[in-house]
Amino acid sequence: MHFLITAGGTREYIDPVRFISNASSGRMGYALAAATLKAGHKVTLITAPTALQTPAGAKVIDVQTAKEMFNAVRRHFKKCDCLIMAAAVADYTPVKKSKIKIKKANKNLVIKLRPTVDILKWAGKNKKKNQVVVGFALDDKNLRPNAEKKLKDKNLDMIIANTPASIGADKSSVEVKISSRKWVKFPQMTKSAIAERIISLIEGISG
Ligand code: CTP
Repeated sequence: MHFLITAGGTREYIDPVRFISNASSGRMGYALAAATLKAGHKVTLITAPTALQTPAGAKVIDVQTAKEMFNAVRRHFKKCDCLIMAAAVADYTPVKKSKIKIKKANKNLVIKLRPTVDILKWAGKNKKKNQVVVGFALDDKNLRPNAEKKLKDKNLDMIIANTPASIGADKSSVEVKISSRKWVKFPQMTKSAIAERIISLIEGISG
């Protein structure tokens, strides 16, 4: 199979040197890429900046912003059998990006933000019959109902729900739902172990 995997937190620039981002380390996406390669599949990894070493054998596409990630996903989606959106894509981006570095002034600075394109939703809408689309959901509470809503709204085949405790951590505890099946709760384990289990679940549902 050919897997398209996204990872890391996107950067939404305010000016040439400042950006809005999030605490994603990219570990889950990179662990998924490594597990996919280990299972003998082909991987295209679209990654926002991280401190991680790229897994040997993957085709790597570096991006920074949500818009760049969307363009890269759009370019490669048709040819993949499975898309896993493990990236923490910024939900908002500044309406204006200053071409030059913003000078400090002794008054409040207001930055107006607009929503970014929901890449996962776009993929869910545009997927072909035999393509598997997998998303993540991060929530403090009501994990299952919130994630299940995303699964339906974005027309996904699988959703992986976790809590903010997993951000940047080596170990995590996730709950997984394949559409029209029951929730499965994985015990706390390393992101590599989670990734291996997720890839084998995807192999099982891919037709
Ligand atoms: N995602 C995406 N494009 C965006 C934002 C998110 O593809 N612009 C993807 C992420 O990669 C992840 C999933 O959508 O797979 C997360 O869904 P999102 O709706 O952003 O939910 P959360 O951030 O988990 O929660 P909330 O709805 O509360 O923002």
